[in-house]
Amino acid sequence: MDTNLIKTVNKLQDAFASVGVHNPVDLPQITVIGSQSSGKSSVLENIVGRDFLPRGSGIVTRRPLVLQLINRAASSNTAEDNEAKDNSDSDKLTGGDNQDEWGEFLHLPGQKFYKFDEIRDEIVRDTELKTGKNLGISPQPINLRIFSPNVLTLTMVDLPGLTKARTGQESMMKKVPVGDQPKDIEKQIREMLLKYITKPNAIILAVTAANTDLANSDGLKMAREVDPEGLRTIGVLTKVDLMDEGTDVIDILAGRVIPLRLGYVPVVNRGQRDIDSKKNISKALESEHQFFENHPSYKSKAQFCGTPFLARKLNMILMHHIRTTLPEIKSKIQALLAKYQQELLQLGDPLGDGQGNQANLVLNIITEFCTEFRTIIDGNSNDLSS
Ligand code: GDP
Ligand code: NA
Ligand code: MG
Repeated sequence: MDTNLIKTVNKLQDAFASVGVHNPVDLPQITVIGSQSSGKSSVLENIVGRDFLPRGSGIVTRRPLVLQLINRAASSNTAEDNEAKDNSDSDKLTGGDNQDEWGEFLHLPGQKFYKFDEIRDEIVRDTELKTGKNLGISPQPINLRIFSPNVLTLTMVDLPGLTKARTGQESMMKKVPVGDQPKDIEKQIREMLLKYITKPNAIILAVTAANTDLANSDGLKMAREVDPEGLRTIGVLTKVDLMDEGTDVIDILAGRVIPLRLGYVPVVNRGQRDIDSKKNISKALESEHQFFENHPSYKSKAQFCGTPFLARKLNMILMHHIRTTLPEIKSKIQALLAKYQQELLQLGDPLGDGQGNQANLVLNIITEFCTEFRTIIDGNSNDLSS
């Protein structure tokens, strides 16, 4: 996530928290939908920038994973630690686990996971515990919180893929009889997904593998049911690297196939071989960059391709959301101001006694904040229009 946006929203939330208002901006939930194995978990993981989601062929995501990212300042402030903090970005890129980032599951209160591999193991373990190993699914979500100085406080939801009941061939490969999977699994999954993407607050990443037909995209079809005007749907085209030579997604990007108001972003995630060889996220992002930069169809528009562009698009949507929430935030500020002014009046001369001084101090802080807040938002609205 864009660090400027993280800083802006943090300042805002910190300032409000200091006067007792928590979460003045209710940020959208980012949800992913699409066919099984289209690359949904891979896309989410790349956006977060850490390896922790189970990925792979077949139905790997079998319960909703409600992932709450929580921004939390790095723990200490000594000069030495600040230096360490400056290096935390490169730590993050090499996938190093550090003490400033950890995960906690709702079903394991108080247990902190500093190793992201162990977070993944726990997701798999608890999925199997609640659904069995027979590829069943369950609407019971896994709730995971990630605390980190490098994330924006918002919620992402990883969801099972849309699927037809398994074919005999697939079940043979999995060595599981078809009968083990519920017959109405398709309906169950649809209902589960609809529950999450119907919320007006949900941003829908409709994921389609570029080597499949866009016209048959389950994700896009379902997104259109709940967001017919395409106001909160972003098309994500995965597996662009697996397209037949000589074919590309240029027509889709240009809106000539199925136009989408917020457009499409092509990405290249790690393939199964990369997962097996534990290719890390920074290497994956570098390969993605190289792919678009060097591809004859994409090199002239490489800045509109790949995970970083998708993240920027998301940031723009979040900024827009914050701007539309602005009137509400302003009235919260005004209410606070009025409240403190009233208190001051009742206290009489603010300079007269200790209590008055304290109230005056709070008033000053809020006034200062209002000014600063306007500057921050104005600065960012300029970013939006460019
Ligand atoms: P999900 O089922 O939609 O969550 O998909 P996953 O993220 O689990 O990915 C399914 C499989 O597709 C995995 O083996 C991934 O390695 C592979 N995959 C996902 N995205 C890409 C991509 O952009 N390129 C390639 N080559 N493989 C991908
Ligand atoms: Na999968
Ligand atoms: Mg998945």
